Amino acid sequence: MTIKEKLILNKLPRHIAIIMDGNGRWALQKGNSRIFGHKNGVNAVRNVVEACAELQIEYLTLYAFSTENWYRPKTEVNALMSLLISALNTEIKKLIKNNIRLLTIGNLEDLPQRVYKKLSEAIEITSKNTGLSLILALSYSARWEITNAAKKLAEDVINKKINIGNISDKEFENYLTTVNIPDPELLIRTSGEYRISNFLLWQIAYSELYFTKKLWPDFCKDDLYEAIYDYQQRERRFGKTSEQLKNQVNE
Ligand code: IPE
Ligand code: IPE
Ligand code: MG
Repeated sequence: MTIKEKLILNKLPRHIAIIMDGNGRWALQKGNSRIFGHKNGVNAVRNVVEACAELQIEYLTLYAFSTENWYRPKTEVNALMSLLISALNTEIKKLIKNNIRLLTIGNLEDLPQRVYKKLSEAIEITSKNTGLSLILALSYSARWEITNAAKKLAEDVINKKINIGNISDKEFENYLTTVNIPDPELLIRTSGEYRISNFLLWQIAYSELYFTKKLWPDFCKDDLYEAIYDYQQRERRFGKTSEQLKNQVNE
């Protein structure tokens, strides 16, 4: 039995989020430049997007560039921006063919104009697609997102659009960049680092975390199936007891 065949198809996560890490180390191990690693990282993205579309996963969020990544050497930042444009150019046909809708989260105003333009085009062209929603986190950090949400909420309070008494966690979510997107059930991080690096802090409150030592350019479809399989073996209790969950099933 292959790992894909082991998956329980009616128990798939609706939303998978991935911290794609390890491009630089992958390249250095091969005696190459970090940028070579990023280029090969694009192949892994292609495979994972394809696998999610095949499994009919609804949402895939990829952490592609963090707010903190702006502080990397200028040559690397520029190369990443160029890579994003060329990947969008080559992949757009496939997104359309596979009915994939492209979305972004992050402070897009910080992106160079040429990147912003290309992204906006791709988002517009795919906006009517009804299959997988592919969400690229670009110039994203969770603290930026939450702070921004607090500012917008404060404005609405001042303008009397909302009463303080009506602010709940559900209401707060309307101010996040992920409004209308369900929280990820599964968060994967590659490269053997056990940290979140400012990604989706609000949304992962109850996500199942999966860490693998694989470096991102080596991450393939089977690795994704492995992560989903692992997720499917877990008991998600949401604060309740195991016994309560079993009774719920039997009711
Ligand atoms: C992830 O790989 C890609 C981005 C953060 C843009 P890294 O570039 O962080 O690779 P390592 O962690 O240095 O190996
Ligand atoms: C997290 O990776 C950001 C992305 C994958 C885009 P980093 O490589 O930037 O994270 P740290 O610095 O090791 O925590
Ligand atoms: Mg890294």
